[in-house]
Formats: sequence, structure tokens, C-alpha cells
Amino acid sequence: MQDKDIKQQIRDLCRQKNAVIMAHYYQSPDIQQVADFIGDSLALAQQAQRTDADIIVMCGVHFMAETAAILCPDKKVLIPDVAAGCSLADSCQAADLRAWKEAHPGHLVVSYVNTSAAVKALSDIVVTSGNALKIVNRLPQDAPVLFGPDRNLGRYINEQTGRQMDLWNGCCHVHDRFSLEHLLKLKAENPEALVLSHPECRKEIVDNSDVVGSTAVLINYVKAHPEKAYIVMTADGVDYEICRACPGVRLINTENACEYMRMHTLDKLLRCLQTESPVVSVEAELAKQALLPIQKMLEWSK
Ligand code: 13P
Ligand code: SF4
Repeated sequence: MQDKDIKQQIRDLCRQKNAVIMAHYYQSPDIQQVADFIGDSLALAQQAQRTDADIIVMCGVHFMAETAAILCPDKKVLIPDVAAGCSLADSCQAADLRAWKEAHPGHLVVSYVNTSAAVKALSDIVVTSGNALKIVNRLPQDAPVLFGPDRNLGRYINEQTGRQMDLWNGCCHVHDRFSLEHLLKLKAENPEALVLSHPECRKEIVDNSDVVGSTAVLINYVKAHPEKAYIVMTADGVDYEICRACPGVRLINTENACEYMRMHTLDKLLRCLQTESPVVSVEAELAKQALLPIQKMLEWSK
């Protein structure tokens, strides 16, 4: 079937079923084109909370669908490919976090949104890369904090806030593989370009960047300054939104896709809407516990 026909069928099914398609900026252009809403992790959670659709199709990774399911227990949350996981979320299992917590009594637990529902349920508050500095700055100054699972984001938060949170030793394989050598080569070839990086990148990448932030923060910076050239140190897909909004902008792309994010295809999305599966759900008691730190995050993000 032609992509055009598939896209039409997808849109028709959304209308018939009162379904909304939410997509992360790392999705392929095809998926972004057919989505009702595109955003970073924070915006996807906020949008899930406010939608009046009966069905949410999350074209993102599994924890994003789980977060939507926790926030919207009365809605059906679907994901086109249920194998779309996250190496960072996988690096922190709930039993290991529980042991870390028990070894550090009196510590607050701050968890990155890239975690399972079971990890969130053990946390005092959740953060995304879009609100982490704001939220950590609001915690009591004298409170000791455990932060996980991303050691790069945790180090960045510590540097920016002056805190000394204990860090879980996890990372995102997509961002951690950017090398300083490659970045310096790109900078030498494009001396006029500004460097955009995600805080999941290693210190040497962030230290050589002009703008550091969530996918939405990076995209919005370019939208506000479209006359400049940019080296993009995050996963593929943000370039699509940037070029859509700012045609003619010069991007030096690093061609580094998140393979989990790219598991979703138009075919899988169509089948998902037709069959209303796979469903992502969270057991009620676990969802109740995981909801508290997510709600606190959304409240503190206002
Ligand atoms: P954002 O919240 O910045 O979109 O990041 C999500 C993510 O998974 C980054 O790797
Ligand atoms: Fe997870 Fe990294 Fe993919 Fe983001 S880019 S979803 S942190 S594996």
C-alpha cells in the first residue's frame, strides 16, 4: 500500500475511534507527519493528562506509554511496537533501586522519567530533561538525594545546581556514544555552527556545546535563531521538526538514531489502530504509587 493511503487510513481510524496519536521528536518523519501531537517527554506527559480522546497511541518508547497509562487509567493506551524499550530505563531495575535506597536511609529519590513504573513507584519525584534543573533547585537544600538512572544527566544537574546528588551508573547508549573527537572535527569543519546537545551526552560533549537541553529546548532555540548553523548532538528526528519549522536552516546532523524509537512504522501504527493492540497498562496498585511522583513533577513544572 502507498504511504499516502496508509496515512489516510490511520487518520480515518483516529477519527472513527476518537484516538489521538502522540509522537516523540525521535520518530521517523512518516510518523511525525501523521501524529496529532509531537513533543518531548514532558510535553507528552502533559498532553496525555489533558487529552479527551478515548485512545492514546504512543509513538515513543515504552516508559512514555506507561506514563500515559498511569496518568489516564480510564483510557486505552496503545503502542505500535511493544518492544520499543529504552536502554537507559533498562539499566535500573526496581529491585536494585530498592537496595540502593535501603543503603541510603533519609535520602530523597529523584528519578528520570526514562524509568519503569516500578522504579517511579519507589521515587519521591520524577524529572525530565526539560524540568530537572527547576525541580532539583526546589528540593530542600540540606536533603541528600539519590538520582538515577542517567549518570550524565545527573552530573549535569549537579554542576548546574551546585548539589552533590549520588548518581546511579546508567546511561543512554545513543547519547553516550558521541565522541569528543568527532565533535571537534565537525566544529573545525563548521566553525560558524553552534552546538546543540542533550544532557544525556557525556561531559566533554556538553562542555563543548552552546545550548544544552531537552529535545524541545533545542528545537525551540533553533526556531528562535533560524539564521545560524547548528551541529546536532542528540538522536535523529529533531532535525525533521527543525527543518519543517525553519526551512533553509543549516543543520550538521550526526546521524545517530535511537533504534527503539524507530521500531514504530506506519504499517505497525495502522495495525495497532485496527486491532487496538498492543495495550500498555499498569497494574492498579503500582499505578497508584507511580502516579504520586509523576503528579508532583507535573505540579512543580508549572
Ligand atoms: P526529551 O525529554 O528531551 O525528549 O528526551 C527523551 C529521551 O529519551 C532522550 O534520549
Ligand atoms: Fe532511551 Fe536513549 Fe532511546 Fe532516549 S535515545 S529513548 S534514552 S535509548
